[in-house]
Amino acid sequence: MKNTVATFKEAKEKGIKLTMLTAYDYSFAKLVDEAGIDGILVGDSLGMVALGYENTLSVTIDDMIHHIKAVRRGAENALIVGDMPFLSYHISVEDSIKNAGRLVQEGGCHAVKLEGGIEVLDKVKAIIKAQIPVMGHIGLTPQSVNMLGGFKVQGKSKEQIKKLIDDAKYLEEAGVFSIVLEAVPDEVAKIITESISIPTIGIGAGKYCDGQILVINDMLGLFSDFTPKFVKRYRNLGEEIKSGILEYIEDVRGGKFPEDVHSFKLNKEISDEIKK
Ligand code: KIV
Ligand code: NA
Repeated sequence: MKNTVATFKEAKEKGIKLTMLTAYDYSFAKLVDEAGIDGILVGDSLGMVALGYENTLSVTIDDMIHHIKAVRRGAENALIVGDMPFLSYHISVEDSIKNAGRLVQEGGCHAVKLEGGIEVLDKVKAIIKAQIPVMGHIGLTPQSVNMLGGFKVQGKSKEQIKKLIDDAKYLEEAGVFSIVLEAVPDEVAKIITESISIPTIGIGAGKYCDGQILVINDMLGLFSDFTPKFVKRYRNLGEEIKSGILEYIEDVRGGKFPEDVHSFKLNKEISDEIKK
């Protein structure tokens, strides 16, 4: 079944949990899509897990387009959401519409996601007016890492909780189809989830959210620089991959690879000919 922003909203009405993962390239998008995920986020976490930057601030709109295109080619049924990177929606409303439009028009995603609440409302509304569905993202917003003083749990004080609840309501009123809640206490996520009619997608936000998302490299053990508390490691593919590579190195050095089955053979006539 093809997922759309409409199927996301329906899922909440029916009480069906939504599933999302990130992907950044064709092969992973295909695997995630074939497994039946509801939505794929081409996150700007790309910068950290695929490009090796220390945070997400270096990712550009062109980086995003490049990877969204690859994911789009691999995914048939998942709703594809493209992250708007740092500075692509911080300058002017016009700029923001243009950049969101590029992710859809050149990249091929179905919706865009941007971080923030009331501060970005004018941009959110303008992008939606341009007929591009928007996903919100509040709580720990990694593009604000320097303002927040690190990747820290948000929504622990009364003021922060009030702001999160208000932001969620403002975003809903502005017309976003869903909101990511990142690194907030589960009780706060519960209040927000119950106070809006659009689905909340949690990451480090507990079990009361309408859906969940994880960074695929984290949940499969493919990124070891650091692992947040909220990640469940479903596999340790990093180890698996490394042991395969070690075996390859040993095989090549020991003359065990390639074997005849991996090699191309001349027909006998030519073979005899060139030996002369
Ligand atoms: O970039 C990303 O992967 C994200 C998710 C963690 C929500 O924004
Ligand atoms: Na992101």
